[in-house]
Amino acid sequence: MDYTSKSYGRNDDVAAIYRLIDAGTDISMPGPRRLGKTFVLERLVEAGHVHGWEAIKVEVAGCKDTRGFFRQLCTRIGNQRSIGKNTIDWLRQRLGQAIDPRTDTNGTWYQSFITLDHEAYFERLIKALHEDPNRRWLLLIDELPIFLKALHDQGPQGIDAARTFMNHTSRLRVDYPKVRWLITGSIGLEPLAQAGNYMGVLAKFQTYGLTTLSESQARDFVIDLAQTGRLVDRQLITVTEADSIVKAVGWRAAFYLEALARKLAGTPTENAQEADALIEAAMARLLQPTELATFGVWEEHLRKHFPDAIAIALLNALAPHPQGLGIDALLAAAGQPGLSRDAVRKLLMRLDAEGFITIDDWGADIPVAAFRNVLLRRWWTRFPPQANT
Ligand SMILES: Nc1ncnc2c1ncn2[C@@H]1O[C@H](COP(=O)(O)OP(=O)(O)OP(=O)(O)O)[C@@H](O)[C@H]1O
Ligand SMILES: [Mg+2]
Repeated sequence: MDYTSKSYGRNDDVAAIYRLIDAGTDISMPGPRRLGKTFVLERLVEAGHVHGWEAIKVEVAGCKDTRGFFRQLCTRIGNQRSIGKNTIDWLRQRLGQAIDPRTDTNGTWYQSFITLDHEAYFERLIKALHEDPNRRWLLLIDELPIFLKALHDQGPQGIDAARTFMNHTSRLRVDYPKVRWLITGSIGLEPLAQAGNYMGVLAKFQTYGLTTLSESQARDFVIDLAQTGRLVDRQLITVTEADSIVKAVGWRAAFYLEALARKLAGTPTENAQEADALIEAAMARLLQPTELATFGVWEEHLRKHFPDAIAIALLNALAPHPQGLGIDALLAAAGQPGLSRDAVRKLLMRLDAEGFITIDDWGADIPVAAFRNVLLRRWWTRFPPQANT
């Protein structure tokens, strides 16, 4: 699929990000689950050469320690289609000439570097990329906060490891400035950096605020889904139907637009009322227990990354209210003895940052919270997660 000609292909984001990268800026691109962060990274990789960069996307959500992180980085460099054997040989040489060829033949190109003092080799790798006369390297680190969180969860030693890692990386940025970094993730880095005392490292990254698709991009995307044969029941979605889908989804992430579009059946219509009825029927098909995979990621996110079930209790209290609830009414509705208004406010800040809710006005005396994703709210009212586990 070629996204460069698509309105919804994130081409403006890609251009804007490369402008920042060209200007020597390192970027942090936070965003809620399913927004399309990884999609943007994929487009950055594809567009790399056009902009004069070798962009490597490294997914670190599954890494348990810094060795895993380094291994993942090496793997992705090795797997990049545009990187030939010569470059790998050159890197291997730069990392350490004294490698016994016999231990080398069966493993991957970096095998001998991760079994030894991997931090030193990590540094040598970044130095080599910095000094590469032929390429400018851009490292796209996907789900960095989940990696850091995994370290934090190992206790004080893990938190130390996270801080050491972040400080090390920060120094590499300074010492080898030709290599650029972009980090992204769906849980907030700030709470981790605060707990681990590495806020200073984060301050060096400029935030790029990835937004949802615009209404017209979302419409184009939905219409294209049908036209390119990606839907079972439809080869055509009319403009009227597409607009109705966009409205029903509310939060214009491609993932949820597609989820609803997949459920659309019936004869295509330009009539607005008919279209709304078809989309309501599609919605009814989507909000079924079999769709757990479409929505379950949000509950999983809360269970993994929030210390207790209070966030779930708040969301359960909020779900029946499409217009939202004032923070005091929400506190009362949540029925959590001992929960203070201040604690609720803090939780809502995180839930806002991580895409669960929106707040009409954080400056108001009584801010009003509402679910951000219309579909998710409706799912949540039907299948509220257990708050007391
Ligand atoms: N602009 C887009 N055009 C077409 N498809 C998209 C677009 N953005 C996202 N998608 C698709 O939507 C799905 C979710 O996007 P993606 O995985 O990039 O989200 P994410 O923000 O990385 O989510 P998570 O935090 O769960 O990793 C993917 O299947 C992706 O291909
Ligand atoms: Mg992702």
